[in-house]
Amino acid sequence: MSDAIVLVGTGAIAQEIVDVFGRERFAGAYCDPAYAASARVDLAVYTSLASLRALASCYVIGLADPTDRLRLASELERHGLRAAPPLIADTARVSPSAQLGGGTVLAPGVQIGPRARVGGHNMLMHHTVFGHDAASGLQVVIGPGVHVAGDAVLGDCVVIRANATIAKGITVGDHALVAQSAACFRSVPAHATAIGNPARVLGMRAG
Ligand SMILES: CC(C)(COP(=O)(O)OP(=O)(O)OC[C@H]1O[C@@H](n2cnc3c(N)ncnc32)[C@H](O)[C@@H]1OP(=O)(O)O)[C@@H](O)C(=O)NCCC(=O)NCCS
Repeated sequence: MSDAIVLVGTGAIAQEIVDVFGRERFAGAYCDPAYAASARVDLAVYTSLASLRALASCYVIGLADPTDRLRLASELERHGLRAAPPLIADTARVSPSAQLGGGTVLAPGVQIGPRARVGGHNMLMHHTVFGHDAASGLQVVIGPGVHVAGDAVLGDCVVIRANATIAKGITVGDHALVAQSAACFRSVPAHATAIGNPARVLGMRAG
């Protein structure tokens, strides 16, 4: 029981995590009761936070929305669970000088460069490159095929969608969203939605 992991989430991202790491790695999946009927993960599904500590000591989050991720992380910690050690797919490559925060998931083909610092509870989807000396905060979700160039800094709860590019040395502020295929050559303010190439701010988002 002590090394078992609870997977938080029962949708497409959660199932992808199960497919990559194997269902035997997980003691079960959690979802809020409202989502139980639509759960589609190949694990036993639990809807009571209080029951999870009996199953496992740690957790990873398989959800796309940073607000949900933050809320559930804090509730799970309150129930005595802690972040699982990073889950790293066999074909991901991590520089020996890079640091990974607890609860972080690296999908197949991800590359993490020298001295990079990936924060806690990040989700990096397949074939994303996280460059040398780049850094990210907590609960950052990065879609497939994204290029985060060297020295870039991503704040807490940033979402970067598929195939976007974050140029060298720029900052993406807390809770910002970078749309699919956007190319950001200038820093993106906190809470902004950035689209296009070169990226421009479409609007501001809550969170
Ligand atoms: C980026 C996003 C948040 C903008 O949502 P929104 O604020 O509701 O804005 P809209 O969808 O109404 O789009 C506003 C404008 O931006 C354009 N736009 C949206 N996404 C764009 C993108 N990625 N690149 C370029 N333009 C984009 C739209 O065509 C629209 O242009 P228009 O005003 O000339 O018609 C939304 O498009 C989105 O969430 N996309 C993500 C889709 C996704 O999840 N893909 C999976 C990737 S992992």
